[in-house]
Amino acid sequence: MHLTTEEEKMYDGEYGWACQVSMQILTRLGDLFGATKLIPIKSAHLSGVSYKTISDAPIGFLEELANTAGHVKVGTTLNPSSLDPDYSAKFSTTQKEKQRHIIKLYRKMGAEPTLTCTPYYIEQPRQGSHLAWAESSAVIYANSVLGAYTNREGSPSALAAALIGKTPNYGMHRSENRQSTILVDVETELKDEAEFGALGIHLGRLLNDKNPLIKGLSKPSNDDLKQLGAAMATAGMTTIFDTGKPTRRKWEEKVSVGRRDIENTRESVSTISEQPDMVFLGCPHCSLEELKKVADSLKERKVKRGLQLWICVARWLKERAKGYVEIIEAAGGHVVCDTCAIVTWLRDLGIDSVMTNSAKTAYYAPTMSKVGSSLAPLRECLKTACL
Ligand code: F3S
Repeated sequence: MHLTTEEEKMYDGEYGWACQVSMQILTRLGDLFGATKLIPIKSAHLSGVSYKTISDAPIGFLEELANTAGHVKVGTTLNPSSLDPDYSAKFSTTQKEKQRHIIKLYRKMGAEPTLTCTPYYIEQPRQGSHLAWAESSAVIYANSVLGAYTNREGSPSALAAALIGKTPNYGMHRSENRQSTILVDVETELKDEAEFGALGIHLGRLLNDKNPLIKGLSKPSNDDLKQLGAAMATAGMTTIFDTGKPTRRKWEEKVSVGRRDIENTRESVSTISEQPDMVFLGCPHCSLEELKKVADSLKERKVKRGLQLWICVARWLKERAKGYVEIIEAAGGHVVCDTCAIVTWLRDLGIDSVMTNSAKTAYYAPTMSKVGSSLAPLRECLKTACL
């Protein structure tokens, strides 16, 4: 991979250890995947923030970076943490202190503590802009819905790109790798966001990392596409999909999806049939439209005693949607920020089972949060949650 004189100096350590180690990470990745050079990025989005998911191991590395003058060169946002300080009474002092420390280290490096998996609601990247984002749901949304260019970064490579302000030009940064190669024909009408998520899980399992063009979707909203992409990137490694008109005649493969596929997938990610302890909405974190929908449905209703209703959003959005938040909280629901049902310690909150409209959460909950889950559309979730 070609390096400029300036990049060589960074690589050789002339700008300190943080820059040097970042260059080592980026050049190693670039060489591995056939990049020819580093290209500037407009923003970075970092995962590896929740203490529950990363535990103690990477904290020393972050401390060393932050203490050797590592500072981000582009706007850098952070994925959710393990807790919302407003709902943290049941967590131990250690859990809270470690989480605070991790966020402090990222802040010291110049990252904004947005603590959301939907950074695109705070600032939407421009079409055609190059990014270095971790968080698979945000990556597939950025590539497929917003037309930005980002690989599915891991925590170290996204941080390294943020600290250098550049990323190697391989994978999704090259137009030739963004073309759809598989035609998916959806032969059944998808009725709600949970079915879009079920389609995503089904395709993720089938396609692994291939790029599909999906036809047969009738006017999906961006929120539907968010559920589809998040689920596809959960069950597989796909980083881009297209829902436009098929333009090519020959495909590597053609796949049909019918009603039975959607129903079987929904059943496969539903491990409970009984009343859940929690109804969780907002994976990925809710858009303003989704929050409004929840608030509209909760007017004049009350959440059942003994059941928790969580709606997760970016704190940035919560602060700008006070009217909806008031309606939801008056009904007994909680608008929770900075975290979600997967990256927090649900068991410590006394939760054994979750109902959700997110296929990604339903898929992950049994393994990552050790709780039962069921996938259902918003109206069914709220019917279960409310009197
Ligand atoms: Fe976001 Fe948590 Fe889902 S980080 S994508 S709400 S698993």
